Amino acid sequence: MITREICQRLDAEDALAELRDAFTLNDGEIYLDGNSLGPVSREARRRVLEVLDQQWAHRLVRGWGEGWMAQPTRLGNRVGQLIGAREGEVLVADTLTFLIAKLVGGALDLRPDRHVILTDRANFHSDLYIIEAVARRASRPVTVKVIDRDNLERELNDDVALVELTHVDFRTGEALDLAGITRAVHEVGALMLWDFAHSTGAVPLDVTAANVDFAAGCGYKYLNGGPGAPAFIYVRQEFHGVLENPLPGWLGHARPFEFELAYEAAPGIQAWVTSSPSIIALAALEGALEVFARTSMTALRAKSLALTDLFIDLVNEKLAGVFEVVTPLDHDRRGSQVSLRHGEAYGVVQALIAQGVIGDFRAPDVARFGFAPLYVRFVDVYDAVDRLVDVMSAERYRDPKFRVRNAVT
Ligand SMILES: Cc1ncc(COP(=O)(O)O)c(C=O)c1O
Repeated sequence: MITREICQRLDAEDALAELRDAFTLNDGEIYLDGNSLGPVSREARRRVLEVLDQQWAHRLVRGWGEGWMAQPTRLGNRVGQLIGAREGEVLVADTLTFLIAKLVGGALDLRPDRHVILTDRANFHSDLYIIEAVARRASRPVTVKVIDRDNLERELNDDVALVELTHVDFRTGEALDLAGITRAVHEVGALMLWDFAHSTGAVPLDVTAANVDFAAGCGYKYLNGGPGAPAFIYVRQEFHGVLENPLPGWLGHARPFEFELAYEAAPGIQAWVTSSPSIIALAALEGALEVFARTSMTALRAKSLALTDLFIDLVNEKLAGVFEVVTPLDHDRRGSQVSLRHGEAYGVVQALIAQGVIGDFRAPDVARFGFAPLYVRFVDVYDAVDRLVDVMSAERYRDPKFRVRNAVT
């Protein structure tokens, strides 16, 4: 039997425990939704105030020449370290859906005699919408095949220009085989684009070893960059100067302040800049990234797996047969979240939130719990399951007030 004392001991022995102090968290609340929006860190707050009170207030427009302009590539390199990229391969800019549009548009031009994009029917909807929209506007007929990802190998052939997949499934928390799938896609001469929204800062990634062509991810989940934080784009070095940004803007020009009529792409990843960087938002992300320098993705992964294992074990022990654990038990196939299926999942999540355990619901029937190893404690996992047991045994989810669907779930 797993006891609270065992969990307290795990926290006492946890080398990462002190990192929790980097964040501002509500007393008594258990935050298991960092896979949707990470919490604010003290350093993020400090950097934002520094930009407001010192840089913007006093340096005004001079700020652009005093470091602001380099923020997207500087932060890109820091995010790059978390995904195994080389210097100069990552840029922080835009938002994730927007970056996927850019990459899909660019990639189609690199395979002009192929007409199929493959993606996954379980993909995040925004990816599906934007891929369809870009394909519809392509300069030649392009078909988007939305397949069951288990059939991917069967669907791969020399009609396929590009495959786009989300590495960790937002609903189930399943992690796909980054290197294996990328290899299979390359074997038919197609290009591979990964969405790392639920992977970056949550699972170790090595885009260089896996030979990934392109990727993008967001800044507001496990990276804790703040609501609507800028996203990041990864373009493998071999494609620099080859893959064209289909949405060019002045700051991706080789000489932006010459104000030339014709576009000429800047060298390297800078070509993927379209617009003026959002300096206040970048300051928050920069502060948030500080904490990652105090640990490693290997250490974070070990704790994340221990937390998710503990949650699954406790659910099986105390709530046997109540939920279906839809997240894979196999460590190699698990992100940093656990999803529980239940016909009343919406009400269950609402009742839990009322008890101070913050998770979320994903239609039609999944309660999602994110375990961010930077700040979630083992004892939090224990207490969260304790409150879940109460919600289920007292059937609190049946309360009509927990059945009213909010606009954001
Ligand atoms: C897997 C995945 N892809 C794309 C997005 C969309 O990101 P954005 O709103 O930054 O465009 C999300 C948002 O949560 C996501 O989870």
